[in-house]
Formats: sequence, structure tokens, C-alpha cells
Amino acid sequence: MNSLTDTTIDLDTELIRRDFPILSRQASSGAPLIYLDNGATTQRPETVIEAMSACYRQYYANVHRGIHTLSEESTSAFENARESIARLIGANTSEIVFAAGTTAAINTVARSWGDSHLAAGDTILLTIAEHHANIVPWQQLAERTGCRIVFLPVDETGQIDDEIVQQYLQQWSPKLFAFTAVSNVLGTEFPVARWVRLARQAGATVLVDAAQAVPHQVVDVGDWDADFVVFSGHKVCGPTGIGILYGKSAVLEAMPPFLGGGAMIRTVSTSGYVAGEVPQKFEAGTPPIVEAIGLAAAARYVGEIGLARIDRHEKRLVRRALDGLATIDGVRVFGPPADRRGGIVSFVVDAMHPHDVSQWLDIRGIAVRAGHHCAMPLHERLGVPATCRASFYLYNTEAEVDAFVNAVGEVRRRADRPSRRASARQGS
Ligand SMILES: Cc1ncc(COP(=O)(O)O)c(C=O)c1O
Repeated sequence: MNSLTDTTIDLDTELIRRDFPILSRQASSGAPLIYLDNGATTQRPETVIEAMSACYRQYYANVHRGIHTLSEESTSAFENARESIARLIGANTSEIVFAAGTTAAINTVARSWGDSHLAAGDTILLTIAEHHANIVPWQQLAERTGCRIVFLPVDETGQIDDEIVQQYLQQWSPKLFAFTAVSNVLGTEFPVARWVRLARQAGATVLVDAAQAVPHQVVDVGDWDADFVVFSGHKVCGPTGIGILYGKSAVLEAMPPFLGGGAMIRTVSTSGYVAGEVPQKFEAGTPPIVEAIGLAAAARYVGEIGLARIDRHEKRLVRRALDGLATIDGVRVFGPPADRRGGIVSFVVDAMHPHDVSQWLDIRGIAVRAGHHCAMPLHERLGVPATCRASFYLYNTEAEVDAFVNAVGEVRRRADRPSRRASARQGS
């Protein structure tokens, strides 16, 4: 066992950072880059860049189509990629559907499973903490079918009590309960396995948005037992343009295909078509071949480092950030305590727009996101139109967290200055 595979020892961020070429660059101000926008997208290690480049350079061709050397090699790499990704989340390869991302995966479920299972009067249960990707496809389904959507509220700490979940499940008997495993704004880690059990007792099908979970913690779809689990490649050190729709075999098999075209059929005649087997049934057209190979390299990379260690590392960073921000007057942080959240901290600074805060931090080389983070209903619940969000990953260091906290303190003091001048003027 070496320092990379021993899950009991802490991450060697020094070593890890060397794997990510982009982390050695500077921000436009000339300050060293401190990348804290991992909730939006993560950076790629050399091994992912290399795997994709090797495919383009050495064996790129379309998959499942040719019997020539390149096509056979790319098909084999593509299907091996499915296996690596299945291993990351404890699934079977036939349960792994390549999609364009979390958004595309949820839309596929809404169009395929949703259109064939929901009707006027049925209910979909969501939480108010969902990303728009897990709201709008259901709203569109509601427009098509006349079903209704009910939102579970979060409490003051950004959490939802099991009793409330149970109460809503009993009251509404939803056909579908779709929720995020980790809020991309609050960082709240919802108890997936417990909620799936409650949903099962109420007879609901369950979709888990794991976009902010799979990259950061151990996810085993067997333990969760949800019908669908979805995530994006680019948030787990992989490429953009690819994501995963995991579905239980029996559920996927019973679903009609959504997109039609090449690769998803067994036969086509002038009178109709016969759909192929899962997962190809849901992969019409040329799939994201090189992206799948890149995502598999990313899955192996984070898998070798260890998701449990990455999780522990991020929790330590988030605790440090919360402790630091708590010492600054006029900074309001949203979400639960450190032991109930992933590596995400959203906050506002009194008397400063989050965009201005973000711009000030950028001058210090610190990349955070400002805005509603594609969660407008949640921001309405929080009573603010926008927040700043710092989100951590395996390559972030305690020194970076300290630099971030110090910079927020500076920004806060700067925000105070005009009002002090104003009150001095008023006093004179
Ligand atoms: C919780 C959550 N769900 C869904 C998405 C959408 O992912 P994508 O844009 O990769 O489809 C995101 C992206 O920020 C997210 O954080």
C-alpha cells in the first residue's frame, strides 16, 4: 500500500496538485490561481488529458460500427470505459447509460419514464434545494401531462427532517421523488438511503441527482437503492459533454427509448423499428466516445486516491472555511454545520453584491461563483437573490482556504468604509 492507496492517511495535496497543469497558472491579476469553483466544474488531471489525447492520436474511430482495427480498438476502449464508471458507483455495466450530462440524463428520464408513467393528478415530489436541472424537466412534464409538483421545504439550517419527508410522502403519495444527494448551494448532504427507504414504503420511484455527490464521496448505488442516479463527468475531473444515467436494469428495460436514430435499434423497416437492448436503447447516434474514455480515466483517478479520503479532506476544508467566515462580522453563511455538508460554502457579505465580492476575490486570484447557481427557488426561500459560493475539491489546500477567508475579511472591511465615511459626515 502506498500513500495514494492507503485510505487512512490524509491526501498529499502537494503531490495531487502536480497532476493538474492548470493549477500552476495565475489569475488575470497576476496572483496565483486559487480555484474554488469546483461546484460549477472541476479541473482535469494529466491522466484524463492524456487518455483523451491518446484516443485521438492513436485509435479514434466510431464505435459499434466498423470491423476495422481502429473501430474495434475504440469500441473496446469505449465499453471498458463503461466498466470503469460502473465500478466507481457499484453498478453493473448494463445499468450505465452515457448521456450528455446530469441535465440530459434527467431530461431522458422525464421524457421516457415520465411520459409513460405520469398523468393528470399524479404528483412529483422535489426539494426546494434542487438545481434547475432537477426542476424544469419535471415542470415540462407537468405541462405535458397535467401532473403536479410539490416541493419539500428546507429548515433554517438548510436541512429537511425525515419526519417532514415522511409526512409529504404520505400526504401526496408521489409517483416520483426526485432529490439531490448534496445541495449545490447549501452543501447539505441529504440522507439518500433513508429517504429512498421512505419513498419505497410510499410506493414512489426515486431519482437521485448525484452531480455534487459522486465526485466527492463514496457512492454505492446498491446501498442507495434508488431507481435512477445521475451525474456529470466534468464535475468529477472528467470532460464536459458526458454524464451518466444509472438506472436499475428492470426499470431501464421497461422504459421506451427517448431519442431515436442509429445505434439504439435492433432492426428498422419501412413499417417501424425494434429498439435495441439497454443501455444502447438510450444512446441514439454517435456517442461521446472520447469523453467516455476521459471520464473513465477520471473515475480511475479519483477511485485510486479514494473517495472516502477526498470526502474527509473536503470536510476538513469546509470546517476551516466556516470557522474562519464565522469570525467576520457582516458575513452570512447559508447551510448546515460542517459535519452535515460537502465542500460547499455559500455566503453573502453585508452591503455588497455577490458579483462585486466575486470580482474582488478574483483580483486576489480566488475563483468563486456568484449568482443564483441555477437554484432560484432555493434563493427565494433563503430571501436573497444571489450568493457567493466557494466549493472545494481534492487539490485545494488549507492555505488556500485561509487566503479565501482573509480575502473575504478584506472585502468586508472595504464594504464598511463608505458607510463609516457617511456616518462621519452625518456626525459632523
Ligand atoms: C446538483 C446539480 N444538479 C445538476 C447540475 C447540472 O449539471 P450539468 O450542467 O452538468 O448538466 C448541477 C450543476 O451545477 C448540479 O450542481
